Amino acid sequence: MRKGILLAGGSGSRLYPLTKSVNKHLLQVYDKPMFYYPLSTLMLADIRDILIITNKKDLNLFQSFFGNGTGLGIHIDYSIQDKPEGVAQSFLIGKDFIKDNSSALIFGDNIFHGNELINQLNNMTNTNSGAIALAYPVSDPERYGVVEFTADGQVIGIEEKPERPKSRYALTGLYFYDNTVLEKALKVERSTRGELEITDINNQYLNKGKLKVELMGRGMAWLDTGTCDSLYDASSYIKTLQQRQGFKIGCPEEIAWRKGWITDSELTALALPLLKSGYGKYLISLIEGTNN
Ligand code: G1P
Repeated sequence: MRKGILLAGGSGSRLYPLTKSVNKHLLQVYDKPMFYYPLSTLMLADIRDILIITNKKDLNLFQSFFGNGTGLGIHIDYSIQDKPEGVAQSFLIGKDFIKDNSSALIFGDNIFHGNELINQLNNMTNTNSGAIALAYPVSDPERYGVVEFTADGQVIGIEEKPERPKSRYALTGLYFYDNTVLEKALKVERSTRGELEITDINNQYLNKGKLKVELMGRGMAWLDTGTCDSLYDASSYIKTLQQRQGFKIGCPEEIAWRKGWITDSELTALALPLLKSGYGKYLISLIEGTNN
């Protein structure tokens, strides 16, 4: 079984004062809290056992959305990150949750969208050994973990925030790992910026010839929502597509229902408290078949 970790801790200081008292991952991305989007991505990958890692003060807030996940036909656990020490810390915190399973890690501020997404998630889920990550072409690769390729497209290196990026391909905040990620996480040492870098784990896989990188095509969206501008852009993107097509993006209730994890009446029960905002009406319209 593959278990999912959704990382929703941190201080969100790049969004101050917005996030001085509110966890970044609960902020609005158009019509839903930000973490609904990565939660949906994990669910689309058929991951039904999910650990949300967050700050102590925010734990109750996260629980107030989907509790232990039963309403969505999944299981949600929660763990506290006392102090943000880097992405690789997720596996030190999540080791008892992962046990001897494979895992997926997604950042709580990453939004993935596009026609090919389901196929790519399927490819990732079906890879049982090693690691597989998604890379996306960006105009500012120096802000990310950057993939270096040979002329024939083999991955030969990942560099964290390089001054001179060797490609335009950034690794996104979604990684699938076999169980050896737990021992690899233990070997990670602090980087010059003082963090336990996920790039260190990825390079350990790469050195063993066990890292696969899937490229996301130009018709797909990978949005991160960690700055005021990117947050605003993400909301606009979601609003534009949703209003044009009438489908919601990143709607965990819809995914649970379409996957047959919850029944019509269970979806109705989720919808009823949400009728006034229109979100509930959308869920009901799915059952009525007026939005298919
Ligand atoms: C982290 C990773 C980086 C990756 C990025 C994706 O960066 O370290 O390799 O490309 O997420 O958003 P951070 O958000 O810690 O700066």
